[in-house]
Amino acid sequence: TGPELLLSIESTCDETAAAVIRRDGTVLGQCIATQETLHEQFGGVVPEIAARAHLERILPVIDTAMNQANVRGEDLTAIAVADRPGLAGSLLVGVVAAKTLALAWNKPLIALNHLHAHLYACQLIDGAPDDIYPAIGLIVSGGHTSLYHCHTAIELEYLGGTIDDAAGEAFDKVAAMLSLPFPGGIEVAKLAMEGNDQAYSFPRSMIHDPGDNFSFSGLKTAVRYAIAGPGRQDFSTLEISDQVKRDVCASFEAAVVDVLVAKCRRAIKRHRNRNASSPNEPGSGTNRLIVGGGVAANLRLRRDLQAAAEKDGFELWIAPPHLCTDNAVMGAIAWKKYEADQFAPLDLDITPGLQR
Ligand code: KG4
Ligand code: ZN
Repeated sequence: TGPELLLSIESTCDETAAAVIRRDGTVLGQCIATQETLHEQFGGVVPEIAARAHLERILPVIDTAMNQANVRGEDLTAIAVADRPGLAGSLLVGVVAAKTLALAWNKPLIALNHLHAHLYACQLIDGAPDDIYPAIGLIVSGGHTSLYHCHTAIELEYLGGTIDDAAGEAFDKVAAMLSLPFPGGIEVAKLAMEGNDQAYSFPRSMIHDPGDNFSFSGLKTAVRYAIAGPGRQDFSTLEISDQVKRDVCASFEAAVVDVLVAKCRRAIKRHRNRNASSPNEPGSGTNRLIVGGGVAANLRLRRDLQAAAEKDGFELWIAPPHLCTDNAVMGAIAWKKYEADQFAPLDLDITPGLQR
């Protein structure tokens, strides 16, 4: 018998992705088809278009990953798919493909939580501990901004999250106000690098709130007022100088990052006190922070978290930039479910929405 091989499928939002991953974590083949050009003209992901695009791409993407790995269906040990959370139509395409292949090839099916997978990307960093859990996990993506106490890779306790917009969503909305190309987060980050982060004093909402919740909609509104004054809805005809754009981006990014870092520091401080003598033992507190999701690719966030880790003395692992945004490689977490005998039935249904 050959090596144990997993086919991982991801279609929660607007990337269609597949990967073939060996039990030891080696990625033998992978493919991502992005839909950026399809959604660009609308300034955001259009669910119906996303679902249709997934449908067209899912089989070629799986084929590409399998061919790259030089693997046939009968060689597989299991098939994994993200069944939650995400856009209903998008999730459905991946889940139906996975169920069909599992039935056709008679392989066990594993259902993944996409958010758990985002954090598991930290386990895939070169030099990470063999078991990176327990840890405090921060997920910052287009749909989520949440803190978890991760007891194991697949047992996560929700601590708190955004009560309105996600951090990535705020990046994307500010980008839209400034008429930057879609997807906007990375464009805002690029301009921010050349701007003055103190040009505008934007609110750091809930930064002093002792809980683990976030709020970014007030910041978004403050940015809107700063560039257009109250009341304006249509930004397409607004003339904004390049310097103002750079300064708005820098000041906005600083506000988001300050809040994220402050909240992480507080969560870690609270949890490491639980068991000071062995902070990373199972069932106790933890002195380790793991960070994943699209916004975790942000350089200012990475830099400031690193500085906080050094200052406060906690361990920090941030997913590598290419594994921050959606991908199927982080579906390696399926091996943890495999080991725990957690398989999904062939009548597996999707769990859409923005659940935790
Ligand atoms: O995890 P992801 O690919 O999709 C979701 O599951 O939501 O995250 C995408 C989000 C988008 O909002 C995008 O603008 C943001 O991550 N993003 C960034 C950067 N790269 C991607 N935000 C800030 N700085 C970046 N460098
Ligand atoms: Zn994601």
